[in-house]
Amino acid sequence: MSRSVVATAYGGPEVLSIVSTDPGEPGEGEVLLKVEAAGVNPIDWKSYTGTYGTDPSKLPIRLGQEAAGTVLRVGPGVEGIVPGDDVIAYRAPGAYSEQLVVRATATVHKPALLTWEKAGGLLLAGVTAMHTVVATRIGPGDTVLVHGAAGGVGSMVVQIARARGARVVGTASLVNHEYLMDIGAIPVVYGPGLAARVREHARSGVTAAIDTVGTAEALDTSVALVPDRQRIATIANFAHGAVLRVLLLGSGPGADPGTEIRAKARQQLVDLVVAGRLDVRLAGTYHFADAAKAHRAGIAGHARGKMILRP
Ligand SMILES: NC(=O)c1ccc[n+]([C@@H]2O[C@H](COP(=O)([O-])OP(=O)(O)OC[C@H]3O[C@@H](n4cnc5c(N)ncnc54)[C@H](OP(=O)(O)O)[C@@H]3O)[C@@H](O)[C@H]2O)c1
Repeated sequence: MSRSVVATAYGGPEVLSIVSTDPGEPGEGEVLLKVEAAGVNPIDWKSYTGTYGTDPSKLPIRLGQEAAGTVLRVGPGVEGIVPGDDVIAYRAPGAYSEQLVVRATATVHKPALLTWEKAGGLLLAGVTAMHTVVATRIGPGDTVLVHGAAGGVGSMVVQIARARGARVVGTASLVNHEYLMDIGAIPVVYGPGLAARVREHARSGVTAAIDTVGTAEALDTSVALVPDRQRIATIANFAHGAVLRVLLLGSGPGADPGTEIRAKARQQLVDLVVAGRLDVRLAGTYHFADAAKAHRAGIAGHARGKMILRP
């Protein structure tokens, strides 16, 4: 048996419990992992706080979307992975588990230089960031505005855009400005007057913008500064983004899921880490029993890096 963190009802983080489950055996094309670290992402609490509805038939809700761990067993038809391999997995539904069956195609090998914690927090934010950068065609000569640049996704957008030769102006609260400079972005505070502050650092114009925050301010400022709306993307406010006719990236009505870009991104992210171009900032590591504490910190909206759960 394997212990897992689940939501037993809809509500706040107090609905989280640890239950015993049978992880099952890996079927065709699947592997069974011993999970060492699972990344915490906003989708985890959105799944039980009502963002996606409150259908009682979906309870209990398994939590977690990404994990790093060691392969215990492989199912039929799996090539290139053997028991004992250390891997990172996304999509890994139910990742807040001691043991977990995932699709072999959802995994990449974990480089030894990446800790379990950083590996567990790399892929969900990373593939999303890669999708935004590819969809908006960011490259040398661009000046990119990243909203929420110190966040899980935003910090990866900054680093990937920098690795592609772009200049980056990133919004964050003051406490995160030193971190933004460390990863190569010019920091500006968000709030009234944002467009003017960004212009000061982008005399020859802003060519693309990525919104990871979802405020009207982030999207309206992007539209005011970037001439081509096909070079503005949001991952966090599809309703307002649709009105403004910018790119909507992710899952949801009218959004581009970027399936191929995201699948390819897993290995590209690992390669960037190995090349020293990408790092995962960690805000804290919590035991499964403290998952609610981690979620409360995430819901507050200003975590300074990825939060990680360990069994
Ligand atoms: N569509 C997709 O495929 C997809 C995938 C992943 C995530 N998402 C969504 O994207 C969003 C971000 O996810 P994440 O994991 O990056 O979250 P996160 O790590 O919690 O980052 C949130 C960031 O937002 C910043 N922030 C808070 N209030 C702000 C404001 N009013 N204006 C500007 N910035 C503000 C914070 O910066 P400071 O602390 O400096 O204030 C923080 O760095 C979530 O809504 C998530 O559900 C969508």
